[in-house]
Formats: sequence, C-alpha cells, structure tokens
Amino acid sequence: MAVKDIMDALRKEHVDNTPLSELVKDIKLVGSTLEIVFRLPQKHLEEEIRRKTVQALESVPDVEKVNVRFVEGPPAQFLQAPVFQRRKVQGVKHLIAVGSGKGGVGKSTVAVNLALALSRLGARTGLLDADIYGPSVPTMLGLKGQRVYVNDQNKIIPLEKFGLKTLSIGFLLPSEDTPVIWRGPMLMKALTQFLFDVEWGELDVLVLDLPPGTGDVQLTLAQNVDMSGAIIVTTPQDVALADVRKATSMFKEVGIPVLGVIENMAYFVCPESGKKYYIFGKGKVLEFAQAYGLKILGSIPIDPQVAEGSDLGLPIVEAYPHSEVAQAFLGIARLVLEELNRR
Ligand SMILES: Nc1ncnc2c1ncn2[C@@H]1O[C@H](COP(=O)(O)OP(=O)(O)OP(=O)(O)O)[C@@H](O)[C@H]1O
Ligand SMILES: [Mg+2]
Repeated sequence: MAVKDIMDALRKEHVDNTPLSELVKDIKLVGSTLEIVFRLPQKHLEEEIRRKTVQALESVPDVEKVNVRFVEGPPAQFLQAPVFQRRKVQGVKHLIAVGSGKGGVGKSTVAVNLALALSRLGARTGLLDADIYGPSVPTMLGLKGQRVYVNDQNKIIPLEKFGLKTLSIGFLLPSEDTPVIWRGPMLMKALTQFLFDVEWGELDVLVLDLPPGTGDVQLTLAQNVDMSGAIIVTTPQDVALADVRKATSMFKEVGIPVLGVIENMAYFVCPESGKKYYIFGKGKVLEFAQAYGLKILGSIPIDPQVAEGSDLGLPIVEAYPHSEVAQAFLGIARLVLEELNRR
C-alpha cells in the first residue's frame, strides 16, 4: 500500500533524532504526486527535512513528485489536552492500546492473539485496528475484502470473527490498492469515529492495535479517549528497546498507565534439539522494564507458525491453542485481566 510504503520510508530518515514519519501532519497522494505537510520543530530544519524527504521517497515507486510544506510548532502542543475531555467508549469497560515505538516488532500479531486469548478466557472482547496507514487486522483475521455497514442510527456495525468484534479502516476502503486521498485530519476523525460511532455492544475489553511510533494517532487517542492502559511490545534488540523507551515516556506523559511489557521474538526453540536460542539477546527487556518500574507480562518465542497463521488469517491462538505460543498468550491475557480488575 502506497501510504504505508511512504510512512515506512519516512521512518528511516531522521532530523534531530526524530524520524520524519513522526513530524507528518498531513499527507495527500494524488496520482503520483505526494503533498506532504510537516510540523516544523525548529525553523532552521526546513531545508534538511525537505532534502531528506525527497531522498527517502526516491525508493517508493508510486511517488514521482513531492511537494513539501510546513506548519510551525512542536508536537508537544498536542499533549496539553485536559484530561476531562477524554470520553469513555459506550458499553466498553476497558480500552487497552497495544503499542511500541518501533515498527515491525509484532504489535499487530500480539494485539490479535491477545484479543483472542482474552476472549477464550471468557472476556467479551473487541479488536480495533487503529493503524490507519497500514492496517493488518483484515489479513490477520482472514477478513480481507470484507466491508462494514452503518445502521439506522448511523452507527458502524463491526465485523465478527472467532468471537471477536472487529473494525479496521481496511473494511472501509474500496480496495487495498486504490489510490486514496489521505489527509491527516480526516483520518484522525475516522479514528475517533471508529471508537465512538460504532455499535460495539457490551464489551469487557476493547484492544487497540496502534501504528508504530509516537505520532498523531497516539496523540489523538490520548487526547480524546479514556483508556485503561497501554501494553508495550518490544523485541530484545537494542534499537527496538530505544524506541520503546520513547513510547513509554509518551504514554506516561499523556497520563495513560502502562500495564506492562510483552517481549516478542524473545527466543527460538530448535525443533530438533528443543534447545532455546536467544537470537536477539537475553535479559535486556527485563533490565529495561525494571528501570522503568514496568511489569513483564510475558515472552513470546519466534515461531514460524505465528507468521504463517497471520498470513493465512488463522492466528496461532485460534489455530493451535495448545502450542507454547498460544499458552504464552493465554498467560499474558490472564495477567492483563488481573491488572484491569485491579483498576
Ligand atoms: N513471535 C513471532 N514469531 C514469528 N514471526 C512473528 C512473531 N511476531 C511477529 N512475527 C511476524 O513479524 C512480522 C511483523 O509483525 P507485525 O505485523 O505484527 O508487527 P507490527 O509491529 O504490527 O508492524 P507495523 O509496525 O508494521 O504495524 C509479521 O510478518 C509477523 O507475522
Ligand atoms: Mg501493525
């Protein structure tokens, strides 16, 4: 999908240690011309941002021309929203967000399987794909190409799969490859509508799969929605941990309690010998969690069946409920319910 490719490319370039993707205020792709508006953190960075954007997007095939514009002001202005403006989603007891600072660490995989595990434990559960740039829930739940409808009261009816109620921007787009005009504010509106203008019914938990980073989506949610807490997903790699540190600080800054950390791709069990290999290193996540006073909710090994299940639309908790990975997700779900019931 073009927008995801664009955001991924922008994530790789940095100014002042901030990925360009996090400065994006507005994006519009019309044909092969990309119009992009950045929040300008400091006046003198204009040229650098412009140059790096053009450079980053050279490799994105759908984009031939780039027009860059700026609005002034650091993202921090978003953080000053008064807490009392945050609304509860009607009928939903607990809203939890699954996030990380970095892309590709397994947030969506975790969000989907955690939601299924919660449901298996008897909690009425929903899953909202809040990744408006690169939705993955339709594929992971085998719902690609499905559409949602609106009832007489103008409320969106979520889809249902494996006992979960679920919604994704993917269910509203004409097709995944359609060149769509994307505008930041419009998408943010879509996102809040996804929470408030939906017939969720009565849910114990609504799990939100966040896009990577600490950008507009996270801030919009933090500003508008009353959340019970956030779960942070990380891999033991140093780069991933550094990005998670940022996400943790953001959640703290906006007053969303961090329920705990899930270590994904923690180790690999050799099918022949049964030996555990700590491919990305051992113990780092624990160290990090301790430093921040965070709880480790569980560790998920690397397992080819996890990736396969996601691609086939049959998540591992559903496909192999007795596997080590599924059991790990059930253990995490139990801890999450305990944490939530304490609040
Ligand atoms: N424990 C695991 N074992 C094997 N493969 C995994 C595991 N966790 C995630 N993956 C695979 O890694 C890839 C990235 O996972 P996923 O899409 O869940 O990450 P993400 O953090 O949501 O990414 P994005 O930042 O793009 O939203 C997928 O192909 C997924 O199937
Ligand atoms: Mg994802």
